[in-house]
Amino acid sequence: MKRTILLLLASAALLVGTAVSCKSNEKCCNKEGAIEVAVPERPAGQESALGMTADPIEVVRIGFIGLGDRGTGAVPRYCHIPGVEIKALCDVEPDRVERSQQILAYYNLPAADSYSGAEGWKEVCEREDIDLIYICTDWINHTPIALYAMEHNKHVAIEVPAATTLDEIWSLIDTSERTRKHCMMLENCVYDFFEMTALKMAQEGMFGEIIHAEGAYQHNLDPYWNGYWNNWRLDFNHKNRGDVYPTHGIGPICQALNIHRGDRMKTLVSMDTGTFNGPKHVKAQTGEECTDFQNADQTCTLIRTENGKTMLIEHDVMTPRPYSRMYQLVGTDGYAGKYPVGQICLRSEGAQKVAYDDLQGEVVYMGGELDALMAGHRSDILTPELETLAKQVGGHGGMDFIMDYRLIYCLQNGLPLDMDVYDLAEWCCLGELSRISLENGNMPVAIPDFTRGDWNKVNGFKYAFAE
Ligand SMILES: NC(=O)c1ccc[n+]([C@@H]2O[C@H](COP(=O)([O-])OP(=O)(O)OC[C@H]3O[C@@H](n4cnc5c(N)ncnc54)[C@H](O)[C@@H]3O)[C@@H](O)[C@H]2O)c1
Repeated sequence: MKRTILLLLASAALLVGTAVSCKSNEKCCNKEGAIEVAVPERPAGQESALGMTADPIEVVRIGFIGLGDRGTGAVPRYCHIPGVEIKALCDVEPDRVERSQQILAYYNLPAADSYSGAEGWKEVCEREDIDLIYICTDWINHTPIALYAMEHNKHVAIEVPAATTLDEIWSLIDTSERTRKHCMMLENCVYDFFEMTALKMAQEGMFGEIIHAEGAYQHNLDPYWNGYWNNWRLDFNHKNRGDVYPTHGIGPICQALNIHRGDRMKTLVSMDTGTFNGPKHVKAQTGEECTDFQNADQTCTLIRTENGKTMLIEHDVMTPRPYSRMYQLVGTDGYAGKYPVGQICLRSEGAQKVAYDDLQGEVVYMGGELDALMAGHRSDILTPELETLAKQVGGHGGMDFIMDYRLIYCLQNGLPLDMDVYDLAEWCCLGELSRISLENGNMPVAIPDFTRGDWNKVNGFKYAFAE
């Protein structure tokens, strides 16, 4: 029996040697039997970016790169943020640049410089008079643009997922650590109202200790597939297995679980369905049968943390399952869940009102009662003025505006950003690590400590504020 297990482990290690490109002198399975991927050492002379700050920037000068659906939505939001100058607008397609120039004109703002064509983004990054490059291109262009921008002395904000491979993730970390430039992923879902309030409640201890959390991206993309520039999104799903869009699900729950602020994600296991709908989309577009579609209709990933907490992350962009990011926090003494129906549950003895349903051992808050409860636990970053403005300006109901507002506020005040390059790494790594698990019979995969030893040095997730 023992011999069989050893043989199995040895063959898994061999398999993995090719699958995950471990260094030849490195053991591929750790002592717990999980596949280990290589963790590059921090180059000499380079320091951690944990809590990194930069000089305050009174007026943040911005270059936008990628003005498709998402970039075109970002430009008007920035027209409402004080202390910002939009210096450059760039897209491969000149008509998309012109469309954003018209947005600036609508708000009576000066025209920005226009850049287009395949290499326009380089010229934007090379300018001396820009502080922040805001990247809203398709996924495979995110990291190359961000690296070039940081090398040219710019902070970068990158749409989700900022990186699609571990190599990309490590190069973003190394470049941010070396250049001391901020590298933030634009994960807007951490700024949605329910998530921010539940985070505050969790930090106040209302749910006891958070021990399990769930997050997802369940969004039927049928109406959207044909709208992406050069079909980039279906192409990526066609070629890549795994949870390719994990960040909306995992970001908010990582904040609640204090990931790399006292805990860290240690191991994951993934399982997926076959591919049922993906090939039909390809056939609808090309007329040809598709036999090599990689991304499953449904992918599930389970994660265990160093401190013994668990997380479940799901990805489904192929079925008519209703939109959901799940967002569920399970604590030793309470629960917050946003989808499918927003509710908070507390133990009866700790609760301040009578249970409406005697069948439950806990008090359940929903609807108007939930709103009233949550109103008493506003996030520290959500002033009434910011909430009103965010709801007026919009962007997924206001969360996009709060994200942009906080990014600019932190840059203006020389503060650490709400999301650092290690958040980016942890939230994006699920893409490649889930693939490795799936391609190796659902083996556990060890999640690298992207902070390289600092995951336990900060005590809990916090927002930074100017004095
Ligand atoms: N956070 C969210 O809620 C949210 C929502 C939608 C999309 N997104 C993300 O935003 C990004 C863009 O998505 P989209 O829906 O706008 O896609 P899109 O296809 O509508 O737009 C992408 C744009 O990038 C441009 N582009 C590509 N390469 C470029 C380059 N090298 N230089 C300049 N421009 C380039 C294209 O011309 C196109 O206009 C993706 O990463 C996506 O995942 C995030």
